[in-house]
Amino acid sequence: ELGEHRHYMHKEIFEQPQSVIDTLQGRISGDSVLVSAFGHQAEEIFSKIEQVQIIACGTSYHAGLVAKYWFEDIIGMPCLVEVASEYRYRNPVIRPNTLLLTISQSGETADTLAALRSAKATQADLASLTICNVPESSLTRESDLVFLTHAGPEIGVASTKAFTTQLVALALFLTAMGRVQNRLSTGREKAIVAGLQKLPSLIQSALQHEAVIKDIAQQFADKGSALFLGRGTMYPIAMEGALKLKEISYIHAEAYPAGELKHGPLALIDDTIPVIAIAPKDELLEKLKSNLQEVKARGGQMIVFEDEDSNVNTDGDDLNVIKATTNVGRITAPITFNIPLQLLSYHVALIKGTDVDQPRNLAKSVTVE
Ligand code: M6R
Repeated sequence: ELGEHRHYMHKEIFEQPQSVIDTLQGRISGDSVLVSAFGHQAEEIFSKIEQVQIIACGTSYHAGLVAKYWFEDIIGMPCLVEVASEYRYRNPVIRPNTLLLTISQSGETADTLAALRSAKATQADLASLTICNVPESSLTRESDLVFLTHAGPEIGVASTKAFTTQLVALALFLTAMGRVQNRLSTGREKAIVAGLQKLPSLIQSALQHEAVIKDIAQQFADKGSALFLGRGTMYPIAMEGALKLKEISYIHAEAYPAGELKHGPLALIDDTIPVIAIAPKDELLEKLKSNLQEVKARGGQMIVFEDEDSNVNTDGDDLNVIKATTNVGRITAPITFNIPLQLLSYHVALIKGTDVDQPRNLAKSVTVE
């Protein structure tokens, strides 16, 4: 079943181009996203929504955090995101015309399910959508609208292809919502759809950097801690990179929005802590570069994932710069930049000799709180 792969995680990382193709399949017609892909009531429900509240845990929560940037930036719709274990025990104020969106690979995560139930108990007519990878799961049964990610079964405890397809699903959702509410021009929709269709090949090229990343992973063998930095959507991608490293290699890792460095974590930096920066060529790149200068000035050991045009290492100093991708856009960038981070944690875990597919203390589906 594993074929040429040593672990399910590795197999699943390499299945991602196909998982994206499968998730897009049947959801697009010509240049536009099919609103009916979200269920036959989708058009009617979407037309009334004024705000999206995303609830999820772990990696699925990170997908939600990326989507918040997209929602507000691309269609100007307010979007809140919260981890389910917090949401369910608060008394959240739910504004009228909110859509409650749960994101889950398994559809059985206890906290996510309980958060959906308690929100519905507070507001009986609350509309709900789930983005889920398992048909016939509790979340799909209890939500008004269902969008299935077609990642296929994910066996490795570390979520990889499920996350990628959740982001694809979120991009489709925001595009559908944008169209129903006239918040998106046809030109913009066309560009998003074209970007999504390019994703399988973008991911394929990102996967080709495995050998370089394997080399870089050596530097982590004796490290106790690592810091991941990003700005904009790359901040949640940094969080996802840090979670993956913790989860399978047992190295402590933290993610910070790069602009927060000087509010505390800069004190940590010395030549023993690897700092991983995610640096696509976007409008925040110059800001990120100056944050990285601060890290460099303190002797931090930097590993930069950038694209063809980022040119982070302009002064020729010795940095680990990996041209991870090329030609990425607003939607495709976070999805593509996450791929090398998955490979990095996988190869660090191999070096550390941990149980990659079944890390200690963790379960694939967290059905108890
Ligand atoms: O099945 P779910 O997506 O609801 O699971 C949520 C988290 O338990 C899950 O993403 C977890 O964080 C992963 N093991 C991370 O790789």
